Amino acid sequence: MSEPSPRFWEVFFELYEGLPRQGPGNRGCADEALGLCRDLASSPAVLDLGCGVGCQTIHLVELLPSAVITAIDSHAPSIARLRETVAERGLGERVRPMVGDMAKPEMLPESIDLVWSEGALYNIGIENALRVCHALLRPGGYLAFTDAVWRKGDPPPKVKASFDLDYPTMGRIPDVLAAIDNGGFVLVGHFTLPDEAWWDDFYSPMERRIEVLRGKYAGDAEALAVLNQLAQEPEMHRRHSDYYAYEFFVARRAMGGGGP
Ligand SMILES: C[S@@+](CC[C@H](N)C(=O)[O-])C[C@H]1O[C@@H](n2cnc3c(N)ncnc32)[C@H](O)[C@@H]1O
Repeated sequence: MSEPSPRFWEVFFELYEGLPRQGPGNRGCADEALGLCRDLASSPAVLDLGCGVGCQTIHLVELLPSAVITAIDSHAPSIARLRETVAERGLGERVRPMVGDMAKPEMLPESIDLVWSEGALYNIGIENALRVCHALLRPGGYLAFTDAVWRKGDPPPKVKASFDLDYPTMGRIPDVLAAIDNGGFVLVGHFTLPDEAWWDDFYSPMERRIEVLRGKYAGDAEALAVLNQLAQEPEMHRRHSDYYAYEFFVARRAMGGGGP
């Protein structure tokens, strides 16, 4: 499979940067996952890894009124958009957006009460990400993250090929649970994101924006071909979502302090 062209990335980012969020998730799921963090500190230090434009960061601000949240993403334009949101809403004391690599966060070890990450840890490999999160969390601190998982074997070749491009090591729920356990965490709970968490803030706005961009790029065959390619993702979900899911996992760094 060849690398996508520069034009692909140009159109891809024009589409994705304009969306409310860059992956599945919603406020209700964030609330449900937070409900599993029963012993969270009263004014928790929160780290949102791979925050994108910060849709879930703002949910965390609303759901954890005393938290201070550091939000990291490697894509500078997304952090610029989150900074604008933070400024518009007067949240400068609550949210610190930072451009950075979640594999090498510039934070003190054992300084975080809750690491949050929606649809992003897989970018640096789940086992590696769990090591990074373990080192950042205080003993007893919480890790809440979503990850794509296969729901059943033998997906249609188009579905398999699509995930192989972005997440070739994607496993099933027991694989993630084993990684959590091996990573020095104790599972608190997990649940599957409902279908509306794919559509309301992600695929429906994506399909609307693709239509807008099709208008903008009418006559530009290369851009239209990229948009047609990107439109296949929500369409695949419409047809084949029984083969895969996004799972929310909540775990706690083991109290003992020892590493994985
Ligand atoms: C699927 S998006 C999810 C964004 C956001 N959490 C959401 O749910 O809307 C994954 C995000 O991870 C970011 N990312 C990928 N690799 C990263 C890395 N090494 N360090 C920090 N962010 C990274 C991408 O830029 C992207 O914004």
